[in-house]
Amino acid sequence: MRHIMTKTIEAADSVRDYLAGQERKSLLRFLTCGSVDDGKSTLIGRLLSDTKQIFEDQLATLERDSKKHGTTGEDVDFALLVDGLEAEREQGITIDVAYRFFSTPKRKFIVADTPGHEQYTRNMATGASTADLAIVLVDARQGVLAQTRRHSIIASLLGIRHIVLAVNKIDLVDFDQAVFDRITANYAEFAKDLGFASIVPIPMSARYGDNVVRRSDRIAWYSGPTLVEHLETVVVDDAAVEMPFRFPVQYVNRPNLDFRGFAGTVASGSVSQGDEVVVAKSGKASRIKRIVTQGGDLKSAVAGQAVTLVLADEVEISRGNMLVAPTARPHVADQFAANLVWFNEQALLPGRSYLLRTETDQTSATVTELKCRINVNNFAREAAKSLEMNEVGICNISVQAPIAFDTFVENRTTGAFILIDRVTNATVGAGMIVHALRRADNIHWQSLDVDKKERALAKNQRPAVFWFTGLSGSGKSTIANLLEKKLHASGRHTYILDGDNVRHGLNRDLGFTDEDRVENIRRVAEVAKLMADAGLIVIVSFISPFRAERRMARELMPSGEFIEVFVDTPFEECARRDPKGLYAQALSGKLKNFTGVDSPYEAPENPEIHLKTLGKSPETMVETLDEWLRQRDIAEQQYEQGGGI
Ligand code: ADX
Repeated sequence: MRHIMTKTIEAADSVRDYLAGQERKSLLRFLTCGSVDDGKSTLIGRLLSDTKQIFEDQLATLERDSKKHGTTGEDVDFALLVDGLEAEREQGITIDVAYRFFSTPKRKFIVADTPGHEQYTRNMATGASTADLAIVLVDARQGVLAQTRRHSIIASLLGIRHIVLAVNKIDLVDFDQAVFDRITANYAEFAKDLGFASIVPIPMSARYGDNVVRRSDRIAWYSGPTLVEHLETVVVDDAAVEMPFRFPVQYVNRPNLDFRGFAGTVASGSVSQGDEVVVAKSGKASRIKRIVTQGGDLKSAVAGQAVTLVLADEVEISRGNMLVAPTARPHVADQFAANLVWFNEQALLPGRSYLLRTETDQTSATVTELKCRINVNNFAREAAKSLEMNEVGICNISVQAPIAFDTFVENRTTGAFILIDRVTNATVGAGMIVHALRRADNIHWQSLDVDKKERALAKNQRPAVFWFTGLSGSGKSTIANLLEKKLHASGRHTYILDGDNVRHGLNRDLGFTDEDRVENIRRVAEVAKLMADAGLIVIVSFISPFRAERRMARELMPSGEFIEVFVDTPFEECARRDPKGLYAQALSGKLKNFTGVDSPYEAPENPEIHLKTLGKSPETMVETLDEWLRQRDIAEQQYEQGGGI
């Protein structure tokens, strides 16, 4: 009896030791990058199968022991690993990236398996955002290719500091050292400005296992580590704990009136009970009263821990804000410079409004200036008007409301963001903040004594923006002109912004590419907003072919003020009318980028007013619009009177 008891305790101890050992083992996150044929999958497969051997051997022993003595425990370790991955998925940025894990006696590993051909960059950027190291695979027969360079630049931008240059398929060049040396020198020359802390070249054959886990005697001239030896020992400084305290607030936890806590994960640094903290955006200070977790209160918490913080004072903090160390605060700004990796098939358009999402914050954003595109072959900066899929650029970004952030070099969590297309909801780009823009610090909103309401009152009207959209020749200008005449005759104060006219002055520098049309509409929307602010009824008459920009214009105005009018005349009819002879030119190929011919028109989905012009006179259209405005004003008056009672 006693004997069995001792045995059981011993076994349980060894299981516990083993698991504790697993927990103590450091974790290395890495990703593999390379072209489709470089042997990425083979390498991952080789790594998993050759190391799992070790893992499974030990697990088998453990399992035997635990079964014999009624203890199971090996699941714990798996759960721990899986937990880490779940957290990442919750951030909603892991797209098409499979994470695999394996373990050796020395270390645990998570490898981001980033598949895909077309969308490779997106997947890679996703995988790289948390990786410590990248294995850059090169086919020994091909050497360093454009893809190799592209992936290395992205890895560098995403803050990866350690590279393994895996010169694969070395068997196919007869294990020739000269080939290996040439590729290594080539890569070193290219990568010298990418800021990597280590580049370790390893000759290998993933297919046959040479130098992956098992040292190869077929490559005797190589005396460096095998891939796994290197992965097990490479020192990656995970200094997150030493960095200033950052706690992006995920949500406010208020189950009842007596409890108010801020839930989130410590992004960097540490925090203890009694510590002073400040709210990044408002600068309000308080102290940490409690650090709450499901397993009870903690004295302190460090980077990576999910906790709920309770403060000593009632301070206003909502999702997206950060609690930070008072002596090392992040930037709070609405403009900054960033490196951007573009993933989407539709090019990045400066001036277009995208959703920008940081760790927990979200706001709309535009690229105000694309400074350059980075040539992935030689790292040269080239002039560019847009970024195509898989391209990398440097730009200035302006966000609608200030966000709190660090530079990416200071903090990979609080210095990164993604951009989301507002119409399709797709993640279209990933960005790394380089620095806040000073000009944002020195410009403040000037408050004026006479405001919009007073200006409108003096004109005895409610401001409005009639936004006419439709094909060239659809009748926008004709209807706009008649509408203005009518409004003017009834004593209203109006102004027409017309595409052709504005393009003679304010927008004379713009043509008809997608980028220029986006900028055209952005400027006109801003002008319309100013005019509405002046108390006017503004009639905007632009093709404005893109939904995204019309939506941006709508969001600039207070609700109810933007009235989208779809002047719906079929393409064939516009082409038949062809008042300026442009359709004839475009259809014969003489005029490029013509709307409806070789440049798209995205019809409104829910316009306030839909004018189907076929068979109707412009005068009846104007009646419809005038009636609409009258009804709106009547409804408004009734509402105000009702409110007054
Ligand atoms: S928008 O697309 O950027 O909104 P906008 O309304 O300013 O266009 O200008 C359209 C006017 O420019 C047309 O009515 C037409 O007279 C003229 N134009 C010249 N080239 C083009 C073109 N390639 N596509 C459309 N309109 C053109």
